[in-house]
Amino acid sequence: MNLDPNSPPATKPGGSLRMWKDFFRYSNIFGIDIADDCMFTEERIKTFKANQAKPNELIDFAKSFNLKFDIIIDDGVHLLGPTYITLVTLLDFLQPGGIYIIEDIWQEYREAWLDLLQHLSMAWPEAKEKYSTAWIDLRNMTKPWNESQNLLLFYKHDEKIDPTIF
Ligand SMILES: C[S@@+](CC[C@H](N)C(=O)[O-])C[C@H]1O[C@@H](n2cnc3c(N)ncnc32)[C@H](O)[C@@H]1O
Repeated sequence: MNLDPNSPPATKPGGSLRMWKDFFRYSNIFGIDIADDCMFTEERIKTFKANQAKPNELIDFAKSFNLKFDIIIDDGVHLLGPTYITLVTLLDFLQPGGIYIIEDIWQEYREAWLDLLQHLSMAWPEAKEKYSTAWIDLRNMTKPWNESQNLLLFYKHDEKIDPTIF
């Protein structure tokens, strides 16, 4: 298993999807992209054309499965606006007990993200009860040092899971 999505085989379209397939050995992976060369189907992976800046395309994609996702990973455009649109659109499709991760957040977006999360919790008071959030700074844990090595993680609470296990 190659866990470095930046190493040569993974820089090809679908590289990180294949890495996650290896890591989550019983998973089915559904990817979205706007690029034609990222469209493919193979064992346990299928990709779909959708623009993450367009909520209706995300909703059409997510509704087509008639299920909720255990894990949603945004490794897409990495710009603040579409990443936020994707978050507020796809959180609804996350399974209780599931995790939503935004990868590679540029350090310069940190304050903007904290403002957006504050705004989100004011506009949507139940969000605080429904989700735990963590900002994970990986900048000192990766080599070479990389400006974009931050993750934002949302855990959707599940009343069936005892929160003290975390
Ligand atoms: C860091 S790469 C990740 C690629 C993919 N996850 C993989 O398995 O290799 C970012 C991807 O985001 C896609 N992208 C850029 N803008 C997008 C948008 N507005 N909506 C959806 N995907 C987008 C790019 O085409 C690119 O393939």
